[in-house]
Amino acid sequence: MSDDNLLESFLFDEQAHSPSAEFAEQANVQDARIYQDASADSLSYWAKEAEQLHWFKKWDSVLDWKPPFAKWFVGGKLNVAYNCIDRHLETSRKNKAAIIFEGEPGDSRVITYQDLYNEVTKFANVLKSLGVQKGDRVSFYMPMIPELAIAMLACTRIGAVHSVVFGGFAPEALVGRVNDAQAKVIVTSDGGYRRGKVLPIKDNVDEALKANDSVEKVVVVKRTGSDIKMVSGRDLWYHELMEKAEVGGPAEPMSAEDMLFILYTSGTTGKPKGVVHSTGGYLTGVATTHRNIFDLKEDDVYWCTADIGWITGHSYILYGPLANGATTVMFEGTPDYPEQDRFWAVIEKYKVTILYTAPTAIRAFMKWGEEWPAKRNLASLRLLGSVGEPINPEAWQWYHKHIGGKRCPIVDTWWQTETGQILISPLPGITATKPGSATLPIPGIEVDVVDAAGFPMPTGQSGFLIIKQPWPAMLSTVFNDPQRYVDQYWSRFEGVYFAGDGAKKDKDGYIWILGRVDDVLNISGHRIGTMEVESALVDHPAVAEAAVIGKAHEIKGQAASAFVTLKDNVTYDDKLIKELKAHVAKKIGAIARPDDIFFTAELPKTRSGKIMRRLLRDVAEGRAVGDTSTLANPDVVTELKDKYED
Ligand code: WT7
Repeated sequence: MSDDNLLESFLFDEQAHSPSAEFAEQANVQDARIYQDASADSLSYWAKEAEQLHWFKKWDSVLDWKPPFAKWFVGGKLNVAYNCIDRHLETSRKNKAAIIFEGEPGDSRVITYQDLYNEVTKFANVLKSLGVQKGDRVSFYMPMIPELAIAMLACTRIGAVHSVVFGGFAPEALVGRVNDAQAKVIVTSDGGYRRGKVLPIKDNVDEALKANDSVEKVVVVKRTGSDIKMVSGRDLWYHELMEKAEVGGPAEPMSAEDMLFILYTSGTTGKPKGVVHSTGGYLTGVATTHRNIFDLKEDDVYWCTADIGWITGHSYILYGPLANGATTVMFEGTPDYPEQDRFWAVIEKYKVTILYTAPTAIRAFMKWGEEWPAKRNLASLRLLGSVGEPINPEAWQWYHKHIGGKRCPIVDTWWQTETGQILISPLPGITATKPGSATLPIPGIEVDVVDAAGFPMPTGQSGFLIIKQPWPAMLSTVFNDPQRYVDQYWSRFEGVYFAGDGAKKDKDGYIWILGRVDDVLNISGHRIGTMEVESALVDHPAVAEAAVIGKAHEIKGQAASAFVTLKDNVTYDDKLIKELKAHVAKKIGAIARPDDIFFTAELPKTRSGKIMRRLLRDVAEGRAVGDTSTLANPDVVTELKDKYED
């Protein structure tokens, strides 16, 4: 376990918060027997949930499980866009707001389900006219604007596979993902707003495509009116294509196990993994959890503050909410622009009732001060959610008091890009919450905390989090690399899913997540592989070797610290530090930029040559250095400590 002492501070807080009678009485799930029923027969439980979707053809079997490959709802046919749009048009939701968009400059758009149908079917026809067929990949590199949602839904309508790349990634990171997916089309924009400045989105695409040969067309949404270069024969304006496109057209009946999308995420090697999610299981998993965990009601205004470039945005801005016919808020901006009350201004403006955000944001709000939310009317809120990393109890209490007015339950939801859906979370009408714990696996899910040999850990002791059975929204494979899927997730422990997180279980069976146990950082709730940052550093001509570790950070949770060995004859100075940081940002994106760079003549290694990251963490965090007895070169650590101790 790598980060035990770092996270040891999340001590068990026995002060449980029970749901208020008022909340419990109106909750979507009120009867705790749901847990027993689901565990007695989990397949029937999931089948019942799947029945809430619209199926063109019902499945023949709920689960085909040939470990470690699962196929859910085999033989069933459905379409995601149909479930998220068409079926609502026959109900009173026809003219309901599907998406409320708040742009960074303060512009606003309300898109009803009928509008969404019109736009999505038009873009589906555009994609077809560009030669995109069922199974083809379409990459996205966009700001958080409605066209992103529209175009993703259009892919699902015709059975094309989307691969969204977070707009903050650098051209090189973008092209790696586009090449791996062999995308035929990229949807992008002429720019995006970030704290009043314009991001060069399209320039990044142009740069990226220099190293690509799969992309035939680039569709460009006009967002900022920036002066960009349109490559003739390749680049097409979205609005021009849409002007000519027809409304309507069929929703392709997809097999439940057909690929729905790919989303790249960092792992323990330098190359991100293309996590594959399939159609029927994924939609069932996200719709159910969205309804039960967020206690969704017909007139809720639901806001998840994530970016659609991450899984949280896929599952809980788009697919879960729209499958449930909800009103989902989509926000382009940042919490501190134009002022540090932007979130609270948005909640006040649209009377948001459910807010789903991340601990890193909450810690920033705490730092900015409670006067910012206090100026705004947050009385519409009735439920709060948290995701991305363990929420420290102080942040939990602050969120509860200053945002939730002490009346809103908080659902701390644990899940991953790979799990697709929330797996560990309170059910807000039933579960007593304990600040800092994601509480219990949801109905139908069985988890455990085990030791290195796979045996259950005693209560209160830390071990590895595993998931014991397949669940509907679980990844189906790693794109083009099924062996990596097997090795990464299903080989550490026989027959069970290894999440890569450390955890403890308390006497009530509550799960306390302790953070990653692999070489993966969690920076502001975003996953960055240490190997990726190391490769970016070693790519610099001055660098011989690099080791990157996560260091505790007040706001971000973790920050990257790099230990760098320079090539012979290279001398270091502050300029080189700046240059190396910029190099990482240029190769991967600003989120991966190390906070510190330490230079060392050697890296501490075991006799077998493995870098002792634990010792580097001790140095970076200014702690007494732990056991160095297995080191091949113990002097290195003493030298490092002497050099960098304040
Ligand atoms: C990793 C997954 C899907 C959520 C966004 C991040 C950490 C996520 C929690 C939570 C403690 C959490 C885990 C997990 N994590 N939610 N509620 N409590 N840790 O998705 O990039 O795939 O990262 O985020 O370490 O493994 P991701």
